[in-house]
Amino acid sequence: MPVSVCFVCLGNICRSPTAEGVFSHLVREAGLSERISVESAGTSAYHIGELPDPRSREYAQRRGYRLESRARQFVAEDLLRFDYVLAMDATNLKVIRALFIPGLEVRGHLSLFRDFDSEAGAGASVPDPYYGGVTGFQEVLDQCERASRGLLDVIRAEKKTIADR
Ligand code: 4NP
Repeated sequence: MPVSVCFVCLGNICRSPTAEGVFSHLVREAGLSERISVESAGTSAYHIGELPDPRSREYAQRRGYRLESRARQFVAEDLLRFDYVLAMDATNLKVIRALFIPGLEVRGHLSLFRDFDSEAGAGASVPDPYYGGVTGFQEVLDQCERASRGLLDVIRAEKKTIADR
C-alpha cells in the first residue's frame, strides 16, 4: 500500500492544489510515484468541481508544476483513509479536527503542512493568497517547496525505519 497524503485548505483552488502539485512533482522526481499517493481537498464547498485558480496555475506553471486537480470537499472519512492529512492553516486544522468521528481512530498523522518547513516557526501557516496580489502566490509556492522537501524526507525516513525492522 502506498503512503497516502492529503493537503487541505479552505477552497481547494489555491493553496492545497499547489501543495499537491509541488509535492507530486518532487515524488515523481524521486521515482516514488508508485509508493506515495497525493491528493488535496477543501474544508468548504465553495468551489467543488473547479480547477485551481488561474493565478495559482500560472505561477505554478512558471516553476514547472502543473495543477490539474478538481476541487472537492474534505469529509470525515478522509481522516480514516489518509496516512498524512496536512492543513494549510490553524482554522482549517480546527475544522478538520471537528470532523473526528467519536470512537474511530484517525488513521495517521494530522498537522499543519508547514510543520515540515525547515524555515517556519511553530504554528506557521500557508497564508491564503486569494484576495491578495502576486507576492502571495509566489510565497505559497516557496512555502510549499520547502515543506514538501521536509515532508518527503520524513516519509522516506519512516519507510526506511519500517524496512529495517
Ligand atoms: P484556498 O483559497 O483556500 O487556498 O483555496 C481560497 C479560495 C477561495 C476562497 C477562499 C480561499 N473563497 O472564499 O472563495
